[in-house]
Amino acid sequence: MSPATMEKIVSLCKRRGFIYPGSEIYGGLSGTWDYGPLGVELKNNVKNLWWRMFVQERDDMYGMDAAILMNPKAWEASGHVAGFTDPLSDGSKFNTMFRTSVGAGAEAAVSYLRPETAGGIFVNFKNVVDSFHPKLPFGIAQIGKAFRNEIAPRDFLFRVREMEQMEIEYFVQPHAWEKSFEEWRQAMYRYIEAVGIARTAVHELEVPEDERAHYSKRTIDFEFDFPFGRKELCGLAYRTDFDLSAHAKSSGTDLSYLDEETKERFVPHVIEPSLGVDRAILALLVSAYTEDELGGETRTYLKFNPSVAPIKAAVFPLLKNKPALVSKAREVYALLKADICKLKAVAWDDNGNIGKRYRRQDEIGTPACITVDFQTLEDGTVTLRDRDTGAQERVAVSELTGRIAA
Ligand code: GAP
Repeated sequence: MSPATMEKIVSLCKRRGFIYPGSEIYGGLSGTWDYGPLGVELKNNVKNLWWRMFVQERDDMYGMDAAILMNPKAWEASGHVAGFTDPLSDGSKFNTMFRTSVGAGAEAAVSYLRPETAGGIFVNFKNVVDSFHPKLPFGIAQIGKAFRNEIAPRDFLFRVREMEQMEIEYFVQPHAWEKSFEEWRQAMYRYIEAVGIARTAVHELEVPEDERAHYSKRTIDFEFDFPFGRKELCGLAYRTDFDLSAHAKSSGTDLSYLDEETKERFVPHVIEPSLGVDRAILALLVSAYTEDELGGETRTYLKFNPSVAPIKAAVFPLLKNKPALVSKAREVYALLKADICKLKAVAWDDNGNIGKRYRRQDEIGTPACITVDFQTLEDGTVTLRDRDTGAQERVAVSELTGRIAA
């Protein structure tokens, strides 16, 4: 059982500069959270890992970054104006898209902040096909903000009104959808494991027909054991040709695909893995949150995989009033910053005793701490201390960057 409670996580996130309540000095704004200096690094790492695994390392994927605002006709065609609703307690339906107006005065048109990033992908299907002539199956991936006027935002990052999604629309031959569905199911687990979400806390739920989105013929929810219960983390949906056909009809643009080999023309079907960045971060925090006893003291630490840890290494001079130690430690710090652990990924701390400095880094999930001491001045070695075990060893400065997994 994870010792994580929502209270502990929310408080650690605020105290240590990961995530703050949105507009806090005005009493907040329900369903919004602001990522602080460590939170934004963590979030960027989570997104970069996804982008690397699903776009850059593959030959069948194209990335894009579409506008959040779209021609309102796109949201009518996709069924969101009529169907993107939640029931209110009196039985009426409430459309959860945020309405906004585009332009001034009488010219202003009603539009919406996108409730899913998928729409921007479908309306660019033809552009990508015309520019790159990809062979089926291929996918288009996008990471970006999405907005939902949730009736009851709750549970920290779990249900928010402004979120980020990482989505793939994977276009396949109509008869091949089951094979791709299965491949993406496995691919989603590979990401879940790589990012550091506890695999044993993830469970699949086959979503029954009457609970599926209007566009889906099959959906699996990947649920996670959050402290407030087992709830959806991400989803995998078979969207058929619903979107491309609807946009083709409504826009008058042919969105079919010509198979060069068979000379067959058809509208591709779509498999959609979709993961909310904020939910992924919450599941990651719950998975990483650890309490243990080290050297007779209890401590709290975040067991982040080095690839997502906001800070990869911290450098300490043993004593801050010994100029020779401080200048040597500054040298080590500069070397690490310039090397693989670029920029913000290396921290400096000369405050308080070494034990306190270790605790501070543990609590934000830093995998490695490096202490420069008197022996460093003699033989060029430092103490390298491991976050998880607390084990310390002497390592030559020249070997440090190779030893710090990033
Ligand atoms: N394009 C498909 C789609 O948007 P969804 O199940 O409505 O499907 C996909 O959303 C993912 O986006 C969810 O699995 C979840 O991770 C995230 N998500 C959806 N609504 C959210 C909200 N209000 N707050 C945080 N994350 C949300």
